[in-house]
Amino acid sequence: MMARLNAIGEQVIKRCRLLAEATEEPGFTTRTFLSEPMRAVHRQVRGWMEAAGMSVAVDHVGNLRGVYAGAQTTSRRLLIGSHLDTVLRAGAFDGVLGVLIGLSLIELLGARRLPFVIEVVGFSEEEGVRFGAPFIGSRALIGDIDEDLLERRDANGISVSEAIKSFGLDPARISEARAGDGTIGYLEFHIEQGLVLDSLGLPLGIVETICGQSRIDVSFEGKANHAGTTPMHMRRDALAGAAEWILAVERDTRAIPNAVATVGQLDTSPGASNVIPGSARAALDVRHADDIVRQDLVKRLLRCAEQIAASRCLTVSHEQRFDQRAVAMDSDLTELLDRAVVTAGHRVRRMSSGAGHDAMIMARRIPAAMLFLRNPGGISHHPDETVLADDVAAALSVGMRFLEELERRHA
Ligand code: HGY
Ligand code: MN
Ligand code: MN
Repeated sequence: MMARLNAIGEQVIKRCRLLAEATEEPGFTTRTFLSEPMRAVHRQVRGWMEAAGMSVAVDHVGNLRGVYAGAQTTSRRLLIGSHLDTVLRAGAFDGVLGVLIGLSLIELLGARRLPFVIEVVGFSEEEGVRFGAPFIGSRALIGDIDEDLLERRDANGISVSEAIKSFGLDPARISEARAGDGTIGYLEFHIEQGLVLDSLGLPLGIVETICGQSRIDVSFEGKANHAGTTPMHMRRDALAGAAEWILAVERDTRAIPNAVATVGQLDTSPGASNVIPGSARAALDVRHADDIVRQDLVKRLLRCAEQIAASRCLTVSHEQRFDQRAVAMDSDLTELLDRAVVTAGHRVRRMSSGAGHDAMIMARRIPAAMLFLRNPGGISHHPDETVLADDVAAALSVGMRFLEELERRHA
């Protein structure tokens, strides 16, 4: 059986790398919410799903929904999923791997039917790259899409609602995407995106909690002016203020154990080399397993921005883009995952996740569990991101045992 699983592990990796070619930026993997390349991904994954005996649809927020019927008509449904969108210049496995492992489990079932439906979901938007609002896909499954979100605009002024319509979908029908009341659980397979498993020489990890995260845009306003004629002491340079603040973010966060804070995006205006920047907008991302620590750190970093702005005759404002508390995975399903890992012959390693995942959204309404796969070198959100075929085989072996345990429970 392991030889067969290893072959399927190789196939999963090959499929991930094939889908990585569906990109907005040739030579890199960039696939944001409902971009054109997402159509190619839907076409390809739909083909594999239908060949595995699944019925496939795209819901009105762009999630790909592959359904594998149960042994009898039942409302009981297990969801297995992850996201199909990527960050900019991403790797080939973040998100996609979880969808294709779900698909491979269906293929491994052959003609076998279980006492519950299995739905494999490819979420349309988890990273939040295009609209600064992550988890649009999974939020639709728990009924958490509101008007504010639909009116959010991207860098080209296109709203979420308009993006949905131009993909051929209908924002008025988003509510149809909601997961049914008979949903018994949500299972997500994902690369760790860190170094813990690799450093311990373990193929798999079981997620206990997913860290909370705050995403806030912090905008510094000064005065654009001539770079050649404005003396240094008479400037109100918004970018210099933002730069001083970004260094303070790094310094203050380093002082707090296990906290991380990042400014990964910085937009300045007017953006010419011979004009003093009048405006600078910094996208702040703060994470910690303890919500109080995270919220205190956010308050401290915003106070620091005020102080720096005042010392430079700048003004500063901020807009919260996203705030998600830390989420514990469902204890019952996580214990079931423990047992599946042991019977598959692997060591149980419980761990928390610094990365956010769709599981943290699904967990608001549905019992959720997550299995991490080792990330050699711990590299992620980068083309060098990778995963081992043997570890994919191990995850498949655990996934099959997880299904068999649920089958016994619901027989
Ligand atoms: O940013 C994250 O935590 C995840 O990769 N979306
Ligand atoms: Mn990611
Ligand atoms: Mn991810």
